[in-house]
Amino acid sequence: MNYRHAFHAGNFADVFKHAILLLLLDALTAKAKPLCYFDTHAGRGSYALDAPEATRTGEWHNGIGRMLAVAHPAVPLQRYLAAIRELHPDDASRHYPGSPLLAAHALRAEDRLILCETQEREATALRGLLRRDRRAHVHVRDGYAALYALLPPAEKRGLVLIDPPFEVQDDDFAAIEAALAQAHLRWPQGVYAVWYPIKSGRVVTPFHRQLASGPFDRVLVAEMLVQPDDSPLRLNGCGMLIANPPWKLDHGLRALLPALRTVLAQSPQASERVFWLRGK
Ligand SMILES: C[S@@+](CC[C@H](N)C(=O)[O-])C[C@H]1O[C@@H](n2cnc3c(N)ncnc32)[C@H](O)[C@@H]1O
Repeated sequence: MNYRHAFHAGNFADVFKHAILLLLLDALTAKAKPLCYFDTHAGRGSYALDAPEATRTGEWHNGIGRMLAVAHPAVPLQRYLAAIRELHPDDASRHYPGSPLLAAHALRAEDRLILCETQEREATALRGLLRRDRRAHVHVRDGYAALYALLPPAEKRGLVLIDPPFEVQDDDFAAIEAALAQAHLRWPQGVYAVWYPIKSGRVVTPFHRQLASGPFDRVLVAEMLVQPDDSPLRLNGCGMLIANPPWKLDHGLRALLPALRTVLAQSPQASERVFWLRGK
């Protein structure tokens, strides 16, 4: 396993994922009770956009680079952009926050973060980043195994983000399906958000079918294509599948996705969709 998120940090897929993550956390923190944020694949928490990895791919230019260049961002984008700028007020175009840092920023003093990462080097960097944050607990362990061991959280409220590297797509989809089935047994009320890549739409269909007949009664899907999904060799888009979404999340997504696509499209055939895979 040699996936390094540093090559991809801040790309269009990260922007999509993190804008939805903030929408989810804002919805959940609207209620007074404490919650637990569980990141099964946390990464290092912050990425330098002038590091050799980011410079080599240049992916961030079509992601956060474009977002920061928008002179008058549409209202649904403003929350995400504000968070990015607040985290790096000196120069938001040199650092990109990962999901743990964005979550730590959005959560309250009474909330808790469980962050799992298998790569020692990434986990060490994440620990260093959040060393003064007593809400955050970094585990150097397999995120799926941690899920089985640690659910349900004491707070009985919260969000699990599942964001695997998808180096072997079929394996990751199978692992996610198994993880969601197990997690439902332990914590059926939890909110689960799963990020996935779209190269060809056909690859995603069996995953959707599986979840449509899975244990969760309410499953919402948001997808964005920045190019048509006719070449399985490149990342054409991505999706977020959300089991047990908070109330009215579909409304928020229906406002957010067209605004994201307007900025991030790489082709006139770029598109987005939000639909209920199951329930409503
Ligand atoms: C896509 S990156 C995560 C990015 C992060 N969620 C973010 O949005 O900033 C996937 C991460 O999962 C880690 N990883 C791979 N397999 C894992 C596993 N079974 N459990 C926990 N972490 C894993 C990789 O080392 C990598 O850092």
